[in-house]
Amino acid sequence: MFPELNVPVIRFDKVTHTYPRAAGGAPALRDVSFRVNKGEFVFLTGPSGAGKSTILKLIYMDERPTAGEVRISGYSSTEIKRREVAQLRRRLGIVFQDFRLLEDRTAEQNVAFALEVTGAPRSKIPDKVARVLTQVGLASKATAFPKELSGGEQQRVAFARALVNDPFVLIADEPTGNLDERATRGIFQLLREINSSGTAVLMATHNLELVRSSDFRCIELNHGAIVFDSAEAVVPAIPGVTPASGVPAATAGGK
Ligand SMILES: Nc1ncnc2c1ncn2[C@@H]1O[C@H](COP(=O)(O)OP(=O)(O)O)[C@@H](O)[C@H]1O
Ligand SMILES: [Mg+2]
Repeated sequence: MFPELNVPVIRFDKVTHTYPRAAGGAPALRDVSFRVNKGEFVFLTGPSGAGKSTILKLIYMDERPTAGEVRISGYSSTEIKRREVAQLRRRLGIVFQDFRLLEDRTAEQNVAFALEVTGAPRSKIPDKVARVLTQVGLASKATAFPKELSGGEQQRVAFARALVNDPFVLIADEPTGNLDERATRGIFQLLREINSSGTAVLMATHNLELVRSSDFRCIELNHGAIVFDSAEAVVPAIPGVTPASGVPAATAGGK
């Protein structure tokens, strides 16, 4: 094992998060600790409302924890300045369930836009855009508008946009939630390829078939707490809460 693979790119230490307007003041996350290392692939699973999106929002620092600390690369949630949040986000790739493309721009213009806002040299933009569109298998649709693309293709554009600034980690919030089974498999294959080229991937999903179809690490949340982490050989004993992932603990920890 290469020593640099053990460098955490994401670190949650005893993170509790309560939204200001939370119903009944109930925390969305409770005492959550985990690390994701450089180059790792991690599924984040759990039922709706379990806290998956909250973890992702804390990673791109859209929310700051009520207690505990989130560290992303060199940035700490307890110290980061607003200006640095923008810097951090440029180094993260973020993909959502609903694609979030600019409808009045073509696939290549959507991707180029992500480079323009970072102040990339104009002369470098076309080559970079072509490279990532090829990587996601959409070179032939570069001049199509989102409306002219299938859901799976639109999500590929979103991935191209997320990749164009060479992120050290790609976070995806239910990226296959709006896709049929075939497009889902295609997007998952793409995520594996992105990961094999060295980018860490954190994918929130409630698609347990996907989780079971690979032996990537799986962190399962329920009611804001981690109830299972396949990187920990032993399932934490939380009375009355059993993991539904069905990932056998015996095969866990293989990373
Ligand atoms: N902006 C918000 N304000 C108040 N409560 C919220 C907000 N966002 C999420 N929540 C609550 O936090 C909990 C976790 O939500 P979320 O992280 O979106 O779960 P998941 O992504 O697993 O479905 C839920 O109870 C949800 O209702
Ligand atoms: Mg969510």
